[in-house]
Amino acid sequence: MSVASLTKPGSESGLPSETHPSSQNVVELEKQYLLQNYGRHPIVLVRGDGPYMWDDGGKRYLDFIAGIGVNALGQNHPRIVAAISDQAAKLIHTSNLFYNEFQGPLAKRIAEVSGLARTFFTNSGTESTEGSLKMIKAHGHDIHPDKYEIVSLENSFHGRSLGALSITGQPKYRKDFEPLLPGVKFVPADDIAALEAAVNERTAGICIEWIQGEGGVLPLDPAFCARARELADQFDALLCFDEIQCGVGRTGKYFGYQLTDPPVMPDIMTAAKPLACGLPLGILSANERAAKAIRPGMHGSTFGGNALAARVALEFFDILDGLLPQITRVGEYFRARLSDLAQRYSFIRVVRGYGLMVGVELSIPGKEIVNAAMREGLLMNCTHETVLRFLPPYIITEEHVDEAIHILDKVFAEIAVPA
Ligand SMILES: Cc1ncc(COP(=O)(O)O)c(C=O)c1O
Repeated sequence: MSVASLTKPGSESGLPSETHPSSQNVVELEKQYLLQNYGRHPIVLVRGDGPYMWDDGGKRYLDFIAGIGVNALGQNHPRIVAAISDQAAKLIHTSNLFYNEFQGPLAKRIAEVSGLARTFFTNSGTESTEGSLKMIKAHGHDIHPDKYEIVSLENSFHGRSLGALSITGQPKYRKDFEPLLPGVKFVPADDIAALEAAVNERTAGICIEWIQGEGGVLPLDPAFCARARELADQFDALLCFDEIQCGVGRTGKYFGYQLTDPPVMPDIMTAAKPLACGLPLGILSANERAAKAIRPGMHGSTFGGNALAARVALEFFDILDGLLPQITRVGEYFRARLSDLAQRYSFIRVVRGYGLMVGVELSIPGKEIVNAAMREGLLMNCTHETVLRFLPPYIITEEHVDEAIHILDKVFAEIAVPA
C-alpha cells in the first residue's frame, strides 16, 4: 500500500473548507483580538449532548477527544447540569479566606480512592504541577539547601508555565523560554540504568507521567516506576506521578498507578482534566511525608476549589464509581476494533493504551487523517505527528465505538491506495 494526500484541493492548510458562514465573524474577531497561539480547527462548536457535539452549521460530531480528556461525562449530563444550576444559584465562589461546604468532603473522597492523605485544589493541570514543584523544592530545602534537583523524563509533558516547562522533556516546548529552572535532569523513559545514574543525595523529587499522554500515549514500564519508588526512598526524595491526563478514571482505574497490583504509590499525585467535567479544577494530593513540606502561607490559590467546581467534582465521583467497569470494557472493545483495522491498513503500527486513553501509532503523519475524520463527523487529535490520540467521554458504549470505527475505516480506505 502507499499513501495519498488527504488535502482537498483549494484547502491550503489541509483543514476542512466547510466552515459555516456564520462562523466567519467569530473567526475574524479571534484573528483580530486574540493572541495567535492556537492553531484551531475551523469549526465553531455550539452545543453538545452526551458524546456528540454540533457546530453552528448544525453538523454533528462524535467527540472522541472530549476537550482533551476533560468532558468525562460528555456534554449536558443531567446530574452535572443539575448540580451546576443548583450551586450557581446558591454560591459560586468564596475565595480560600473562608471554608466552603465541599472542599473537605471532596478531599476525603480523593484520599479514599487515591490513598493520599491531603489535597490542595487548583484550577488547571499546570497549576497542579507548579504546586508539586514547590512541594518537592520545599521538601528538599527542609533537608539541605543543596537538595533541589529534580529528575524528570524525556518526552514528558507537565504543562506550560515556566516551572512545568522546566520538567517537560520536549525541546519544542522549552526552547523559546530558556534558561528555565536549574537542577533538572532528564532520563529516557524506562531506562532504569539512566534513572539510577541521575538520582542521588541532591535529588529532591522524581516526576513521572504514568502514561505519557502528549508524548504519544506511552505507558511506562511498571518496573521502572517501582525502581523510581525505591530510589526516592533511598535518597529521601519525593516521587510525583503526573496523572493529569491518565488519572481520575481515564484508564478504568481511579488513577493510572493503580493499574498494577499492588500499586506503586507516589508521594505526590497531580490530576485535573476530568475532575469537574469541564469546570476548571485540579488537585495536588500528597501523603503526610510530602504534605508537611507546605506550611501555612507557603502556597495558595484564589479560585482553587471554589464551591461550584468542588460540588461538581463530588457529583462526578459519585457517578464515576459505577462507570469504571464500563470504561475498561468499552476501552478493550475499542482497542480490539482498532487492532482489526491494523490488520487491514499497514500504515497502522501499534494500538496501545488503557481504558479510554488510546493511541494509534502510524507510519505516516496523522494530521490529515484527523482533518478527514472531522469532515466525516469524528473528533480526535494527533500528537507527536504520527500518533492518533483518543480520549472519549467515559459514557461511550460499544455502539459509539462502532460508529467511530466506521468513520476511521472510511478515512483509512481513502488513503490506502494499491502500491
Ligand atoms: C500529563 C499532563 N500534565 C500537565 C498538563 C497541563 O494541564 P493543563 O493544560 O490543564 O494546564 C497536561 C495537559 O495536557 C498533561 O497532559
